[in-house]
Amino acid sequence: MYNYQNLLVSIEAKIATVTVNRPKVLNALNKDTLLEIKAAFTTLATDPSVKVIILTGSGEKAFVAGADIAFMQPLNAIEGYEFGRLGQEAFMAIEACPKPVIAAINGFALGGGQEICMACDLRIAADNAKFGQPEINLGIIPGFAGTQRLTRLVGKTAAKYIIYTGEMFGAEEAYRLGLLNKVVPLANLMAEANAVAQKIAGKGAVSLKIAKSAIDIGIETDFNTGSIHEAELFGLCFATADQKEGMQAFLEKRKAEFIDR
Ligand code: CAA
Repeated sequence: MYNYQNLLVSIEAKIATVTVNRPKVLNALNKDTLLEIKAAFTTLATDPSVKVIILTGSGEKAFVAGADIAFMQPLNAIEGYEFGRLGQEAFMAIEACPKPVIAAINGFALGGGQEICMACDLRIAADNAKFGQPEINLGIIPGFAGTQRLTRLVGKTAAKYIIYTGEMFGAEEAYRLGLLNKVVPLANLMAEANAVAQKIAGKGAVSLKIAKSAIDIGIETDFNTGSIHEAELFGLCFATADQKEGMQAFLEKRKAEFIDR
C-alpha cells in the first residue's frame, strides 16, 4: 500500500511518517515524486491505523530543496502549467487530508520545499533550516501555490519581499514571520515532532478533523459564513461519542478516553 520509489512511509502508534527520499538531489520534487505524494496522502486520509502524519526529508541537509530544476528546464509552457497544477494538486492532498499533518523541517526548505511545508497544518523546524522562494533567480515564480499560501501565512508585505528578492532566511526569521510553530535543535527534531504528534493523537479524530475544516474553510470565506460553518461543525460534535465522553470525563475528574467516533 505504501511502496514508493521516492518516498518512505512508516506507521507506528497511529503516527505515519512520510519521508521524501531523494537525498542525492536534496529531495527535489520531480513529477513522479509529486504523483507519489498525492497518492500517499490520499491513501493516508482514509487509513484507519493513522491519526497524525509527519512529513520530513531524507538526510540532515535538506527537507526539500524545491521543484526539480533538471526536470523543469526543458518544459514548454503547457508542460510548465501542467507541472504547476500537479504540484498544487499534490499539496492540496496534504491540505485536504482530514488528519493533522506536521512538517518536520530538517534543512533547506526552498521553493517547492517551502511551499509543501506551508500545505501542512503545523511546522516544526530544526535550527539549521533555511527557507526561501528562490524561483525569481531561475526566471520563474513559485508555482505550487506559494504565492497564495505564503501571502495568507505571512501577509502581502513579507510575501512580496520574499518572492521578489529570492533571499534565503533562517529558522528564527521564519519563526518571527509566523511561518513556524517551533524551532528546535536538529538532533531533537524528530523527537519533538513525534511528541507533538502523540499529544494530538490522544485527542478525538472527529473533533480534530472538523477543527481543521473549520479553520481551513473558514479562512477562505468571509467571517460570517466561516462562523456559520463553525457553528454547524460545533453542533455536529454533539453527535459524537467523544463529546459525551469528553464532558463526562471532565465532570468525573478523570482523563477522557476518546474512541474517535
Ligand atoms: N532541483 C534539482 N537538483 C537539485 C535541486 C533542485 N531544486 N537542489 C539541489 N539539487 C542538486 C544539485 O544540483 C546537486 O546535484 P549534483 O550533486 O549532481 O551536482 C545536489 O542536489 C546537491 O546540491 P548542491 O551541490 O547545490 O548543494 P549546496 O549545499 O552547494 O547548495 C542549495 C544547496 C543552496 C539548496 C542549492 O542546491 C540550491 O540552491 N538548490 C536549488 C534551490 C532552488 O532554487 N529551489 C527552487 C526550485 S524552483 C521551484 O521550486 C518552483 C516551484 O515553486 C514549483
